[in-house]
Amino acid sequence: MKNKLLIPWAKPDIGIEEFKQIQSSFKSNWLTQGPKVKEFEKKMANFCNSKYGIAVSNGTSALDIAYKTLKIKEGDEVILPALSYFSTASMITYQKAIPVFVDIKQNNFNLDPQKIQQAISKRTKAIAFIDYGGNPSQLNEILNIGKKYNIKVLQDGAQSLGALYKGKPMGANTPISTMSFHMAKILSTVEGGMIFTNNKKLKNEIVMRRSHGEKKPGDYKHNILGYNARMTDLQAGIGLAQLDKLNFFVKKRQEVAKLYDSLFKNCKNIILPETNKNCKNAYFFYPILLKNRDRIAKRLKKIYGIDTRVAYRYPLYKQNLYKSKKARFVKKNCPVAEKISSRILNLPIYPSLKNKEVQYIFNSIYKEMK
Ligand SMILES: Cc1ncc(COP(=O)(O)O)c(C=O)c1O
Repeated sequence: MKNKLLIPWAKPDIGIEEFKQIQSSFKSNWLTQGPKVKEFEKKMANFCNSKYGIAVSNGTSALDIAYKTLKIKEGDEVILPALSYFSTASMITYQKAIPVFVDIKQNNFNLDPQKIQQAISKRTKAIAFIDYGGNPSQLNEILNIGKKYNIKVLQDGAQSLGALYKGKPMGANTPISTMSFHMAKILSTVEGGMIFTNNKKLKNEIVMRRSHGEKKPGDYKHNILGYNARMTDLQAGIGLAQLDKLNFFVKKRQEVAKLYDSLFKNCKNIILPETNKNCKNAYFFYPILLKNRDRIAKRLKKIYGIDTRVAYRYPLYKQNLYKSKKARFVKKNCPVAEKISSRILNLPIYPSLKNKEVQYIFNSIYKEMK
C-alpha cells in the first residue's frame, strides 16, 4: 500500500533534557544510586501526594518488596483483578501465597468491588488492584472493603500515574503502593519503579529490602533478607527530566483519547470503556473492544503499518503457570474478564501521535470492520 505509515503502539518521549541529565551524572562521576535517586523520590512522592517514595529497579521488584513488607506469606489469599499484567499475580505466587482472581467491571475493566466481597474468605490477607490503562478504579469502595473486613489493600499503580480520583492523584493511595517506569509507561526511567508509603516504619523496612537488608547503604550490616533492587542515578536523572514534562504528557494523551472517542463514538461495532464520574483517565492505554480482533490487528500491522497491543490476551488464571497447576490459585467466576480479553485491542497512544495519524488509524480500522 502507498503512503503506508509506521505507527508504533507506544513511543517514548525522550529528548535533550534526559540526555543532559545523563551527561551531568557522567560528569559528576555518580552513576549508581545517589543524589538524583533521592531527588527523584522526593519529587515523585510530592507529585503523588505521598510522604515517602522509594525508587527501585522496576515495577515487579516494587510489588515483590511491597507484598513482603505487607507480610503476605505462604497460604495467604490475595484478591486481585483477573485482568492485569502478569506480575500483579506472579509476585503473590513468589511469596507462596494464593492469588484469588476476581472479575472486572464491564465499563472500565477494573476490579469489581461487589465481586471482591464475594471472594473474601478466612484466609484473605490483602486486596491488590490496578487502574487499567490509567482508568481509575473505584478507590473509595475498595478502601472501604479493606476497612470493613480488616484486610490490607495495595494499589499496583504501574498504570495509574497522571490519573485523578476526585481530584486526588492516583498511584499512591494505599498504605503501600507501587509504580512502574518501564519504557512504555507514561513516565519512563527506561526500567524502574517506585514504592510509596506515608509510614516511616514501613519506609525504613522497604529501604532495607531494596538493598540486601542494609539500614544504611554501604555499612555492610545486614538486618533482614533483601536483595539488590536499586535504581541508578542515570535512570533517576531520566525520570527527573520526564517528571518536568509529565503534565504535558498526560494532557497530550488525553487529547489523543478525545479525538479517538469522537471518531469511534458512532461505530456501533466498537465498544469503548468509560471513565467514572469525578475521575480523570491518564490513558496509558487506549483500549477498544471489537469482534475479529486478531484478524484486524494482523491486517492493521501488515497492510497499514499500525502496531497495536492486546493487553491482555488471557485472564491471568489462563497463563500457563496457573493453567498447568504449577502454582496455587483460586479462580472466581470471571465472564467479563473472559469476554474483554477475547475482544480487547489497545491502539497507539503517546504524546507525539498526530491528529492525522489518529484519523488514519480510525479509517484503517473502519475499513477493516466492513
Ligand atoms: C499493572 C502492572 N503491574 C506491574 C507491572 C510490572 O512493571 P515492570 O515492567 O516495571 O516490572 C506492570 C508493567 O507493565 C503493570 O502494567
